[in-house]
Amino acid sequence: MNAKPIGVFDSGIGGLTVVRALSARLPNENIVYFGDTARVPYGPKSPTVVREYAMQDVDFLVSKGVKMVVIACNTVSAVALDVVQNRARVPVVAVILPGAREAIRATKKKRVGIIGTVATVNSGAYAHAIRQIDADVQVFAQACPLFVPLAEEGWIDHRVTALVAKEYLFPLTLEKIDTLILGCTHYPVLRGAIAAAMDPHVTLIDSGAAVAADVEAALDEKKLRNPSRQKPNLEFYVSDLPARFAEIGERFLGRTMGRVHRVSGF
Ligand code: DGL
Repeated sequence: MNAKPIGVFDSGIGGLTVVRALSARLPNENIVYFGDTARVPYGPKSPTVVREYAMQDVDFLVSKGVKMVVIACNTVSAVALDVVQNRARVPVVAVILPGAREAIRATKKKRVGIIGTVATVNSGAYAHAIRQIDADVQVFAQACPLFVPLAEEGWIDHRVTALVAKEYLFPLTLEKIDTLILGCTHYPVLRGAIAAAMDPHVTLIDSGAAVAADVEAALDEKKLRNPSRQKPNLEFYVSDLPARFAEIGERFLGRTMGRVHRVSGF
């Protein structure tokens, strides 16, 4: 059981930022990744559709014999966590709660901003998770849908990205937040531009990095850690042709990726 892989899924490529954080923290764990590149983006879609997609995504990971499911996608975590939990039959870790906890730890003024896709922001999931833990924290949300294509385009240090970031984040600067949750898989890639558009004292919370600590705790609690010291196996599956994923993915993963497999039927 312990040598079985951790299953990670996302609407597409962005979840590789979570794989990067997981591999850094848990270097012995085998990982199977599924990116639904044929149907990305999930962020502008209705919760009903995202829930249907999430069901199929988790079924695929379960068919690979995973010991745990990590929902790397903030949009799925926000609108379909229950669907995935009901379906997975193994422990499930999602990105919202770890990010919310980390933000509460970081904020001194109890004023937290959250940026994400339209679906994530409309769901109110981060605000809900934060208020469940500390009802005194005020949460200010802003959807930043253009960040997703900008990150995929590789426009990291680009003047257009800087301009878009200023435009989106200006309302949050008025709210005098001291902590900002990067509530979308793609945003850690644009961290520099986001930081530059905010006051320098604002702490940025990467929900992907926060989730890795929760996965480690869940593995320990369930005694599911892989004891092997061998180089772990990382397998990547996507629902559209793999070429673009493999090319852009290395930017998100921070290293070369090896072979990417296509799964049909999505
Ligand atoms: N993975 C999505 C998220 O974290 C961003 C991309 C999309 O809209 O599908 O919310």
